[in-house]
Amino acid sequence: MDAATIAINQRMNKFDGHAQVWLFGYGSLIYKADFPYIARRPASITGWTRRFWQGSHDHRGTPMAPGRVATIVPQAGAICDGMAYLITPEVFAHLDHREKNGYLRLSTVISFDDGSSTEGLVYIANEENAAFLGAASELDIARQIARAAGPSGPNSEYLLHLAHALRELGKTDPHVFAIERHLAQLSHPGTAG
Ligand code: BEZ
Repeated sequence: MDAATIAINQRMNKFDGHAQVWLFGYGSLIYKADFPYIARRPASITGWTRRFWQGSHDHRGTPMAPGRVATIVPQAGAICDGMAYLITPEVFAHLDHREKNGYLRLSTVISFDDGSSTEGLVYIANEENAAFLGAASELDIARQIARAAGPSGPNSEYLLHLAHALRELGKTDPHVFAIERHLAQLSHPGTAG
């Protein structure tokens, strides 16, 4: 499964021959860039919405108690805000390995805050991958996140970093912020959310 995902991504050759490629990040890539990049710019993609529907048994959970991490799912008219990185093709080999748990590269139009746009890539985990968990209420998602931890740390840390990074960008995401409120309630019951 992991090897298959990496192999599929390596066959994704749309940008072969390009010295530089824009990558759109909507999850941990917004706040954690552990790779070299040439430029980094706030950006968005249209027709997609961020959802904590992907299971994580290798980063933010375990096979016995998987966590939940972000993917994007199609939604007409939706705008997903995030961060774009201009990277060299070699960096994809690193990311293919880091994001091997079901995330596939897809080409997309990336819009920048100044109104310009470019074609680039995004990693998505769709319902066909084995780790996909799918929809649940934001309260149930928060309950699962509150319990989960993996080699990369507590699942709640991922959610809270993402919410913080979106605020820093001046962006809102009702799904992420609702899970954040539920998490706060779960860790401090009795306080107003
Ligand atoms: C992202 O932030 O876009 C991302 C992070 C992990 C896996 C795939 C995508």
